[in-house]
Amino acid sequence: MKRLLPLALLVALSAQAQSPLEPTGRWQHQPVGSAPTPPMGWSSWNAFRVDITEQKVLASAQVIVDSGLASAGYRSINVDDGWWLKRRTSDGRLLVRTGLFPSADLGAGKDSSLRPFTDRIHAMGLKAGLYTDIGRNACSQAYDADSPNLPEGTHAEREVGLMGFVEQDVKLFFGEWNFDYLKVDGCGLSSYGRDRPHVASGQYREYIPTIVEGSINQSDIEGTKKLYAGLKQALNKVRPANDYMLSVCLWGTVNVRSWGQDYGTLWRSSRDIWKGFAQMVHNFDTVATREFYAGPGRWNDPDMLEIGNGDFGDNHLLEARTHLGLWAIVSAPLMIGTDLSKASPAILGILKAPEVVAVNQDPAGHQGVLAYADSDRQILVKTLADGRKAVLLFNRTGSPAKFTLTAEHLKMDAASPIALRDAWARAEAGSFTGKREFELKPREALLFTAAGKHVLPRGYFVSERPGNVYVARDGIRALEQDPVVYRALASWSTTDNGGTRPAYAGWGGPRADSTPYDQALSIQREAFRHGIGVLADSRLQVQVAPGSQRFAAKVGVDDSTRGKAAAVSFEVWGDGRRLASTAPMKFNQAARELSADLRGVKLIELIARQHGADTTGPIVVTWGGARIE
Ligand code: GLA
Repeated sequence: MKRLLPLALLVALSAQAQSPLEPTGRWQHQPVGSAPTPPMGWSSWNAFRVDITEQKVLASAQVIVDSGLASAGYRSINVDDGWWLKRRTSDGRLLVRTGLFPSADLGAGKDSSLRPFTDRIHAMGLKAGLYTDIGRNACSQAYDADSPNLPEGTHAEREVGLMGFVEQDVKLFFGEWNFDYLKVDGCGLSSYGRDRPHVASGQYREYIPTIVEGSINQSDIEGTKKLYAGLKQALNKVRPANDYMLSVCLWGTVNVRSWGQDYGTLWRSSRDIWKGFAQMVHNFDTVATREFYAGPGRWNDPDMLEIGNGDFGDNHLLEARTHLGLWAIVSAPLMIGTDLSKASPAILGILKAPEVVAVNQDPAGHQGVLAYADSDRQILVKTLADGRKAVLLFNRTGSPAKFTLTAEHLKMDAASPIALRDAWARAEAGSFTGKREFELKPREALLFTAAGKHVLPRGYFVSERPGNVYVARDGIRALEQDPVVYRALASWSTTDNGGTRPAYAGWGGPRADSTPYDQALSIQREAFRHGIGVLADSRLQVQVAPGSQRFAAKVGVDDSTRGKAAAVSFEVWGDGRRLASTAPMKFNQAARELSADLRGVKLIELIARQHGADTTGPIVVTWGGARIE
């Protein structure tokens, strides 16, 4: 008994230390692989689907080198779905469809190997990427049933996905074959239920879906995470130097928009892009409000580029520029998805646009933040490493549209001149004071960099540097653990602001200068142009710029909140020490000032602690004007 007590205490204490609401005093994001700036390259899927050959891939790779796209940063050449022949049952080794990849043919009776292919790619100064699935089977086997290039043989031979073979396959891909990048899809978890024709017909083994698109309740979030955790572990063994990239392809399901950053270098936020304008805009929308989840080494992925295809082809260069501009401002991975051997100089020129690509690749890694949005127009602002801002004006509609860009959008002083530079024209574009009007063509996006005097005499708003924030707890997980509240929340969706949007399933995370659900920040009718809106029961980690002295914010329960019963207290921690806090506060209570001395502090943690459950809905809280000076 004497020995047991301290042990029980220890267990209790360590459980407390692990509680995601408690501060840890150290930056918790551990990068998976390495991508200090958004990954760039080319992938076979949008161009060829499963109709790929080694020759087609190499032809595009050659253009990447010859056209200067490689020097512009596009270096990863990724083979998507369609490369495999079967899994050998004797030892589980994957065999390549050598008819399509002739260099993989090592001669009769011998193994196949993609090493000659990656050697060739590496000799061109490029990186090589490959595709697989976290389940037993791939997407093509479910969705490209008529293709002659699908894996062959028995059930077991056609189970080419990672499930049950993680270590072996990772060793093969990253060790023996020397790939640098792996995209891991999730159709094996979602598309092999017994109701699917390819399963009902007996062609594939049933896998009771653990990912159900559109239904977070029927999806197994923890189980899916576990599979990707196993993959991460296997990768760490084969590539201890962390010199790889891992693309998590779960199409925004299973709440991956929130946890993707802990399991991948990049993670898909939406269903597949397509060469139509509306689909591209949809994909953009799925990352445009996820600014606090991206940063150096972790990137929201709205999917590969369609530039050169369909609505973004030679007759639609304006749309092609819009597409790249949008991907640039939200720091999205830039994976070219067109057959480059057929791409015109105009398309190549757009892809290369140095000042547009520079906005995307800015080393600070801050994703652009919405500064203005209505159903037709958006303005996004991205803080650059040198203190300038990149600003994108996007006309979503099919008609011309007028825009007013203000100093306030840029968080710049309204009485001082602001100099604009056109990122496409690569030319100065005049300066303005206070505001400037623009008229945009249908579907046009203008992209500028802006230099001016910051609205704060010193320091910055936390919402301007989202790449310095790690969402350690978004306030949603707690609700998951409370079945009553969770059920209420899962069926709840917001219709504020005109549109309907699920309150859960990867939404409802913290937002810069907005509540999690798109309303303006306000505490008992005191409005805040700047700040962070987040659900209660949350903890945000914020890296502090060296030399900073002070944190300040006005905090309280936001006027938009649904949860009106429980109270929330606010805490600011610095490097693991409590610096400031408030007493519990309720809806309709005036904002309270919270400030903390930051001298010598590297990391602050902003905790909104909820006291008691609230079945009336999630509680939205506001860190009004949160700034570091
Ligand atoms: C899924 C992915 C696509 C592509 C295909 C391949 O649909 O989302 O990007 O990889 O599978 O079959």
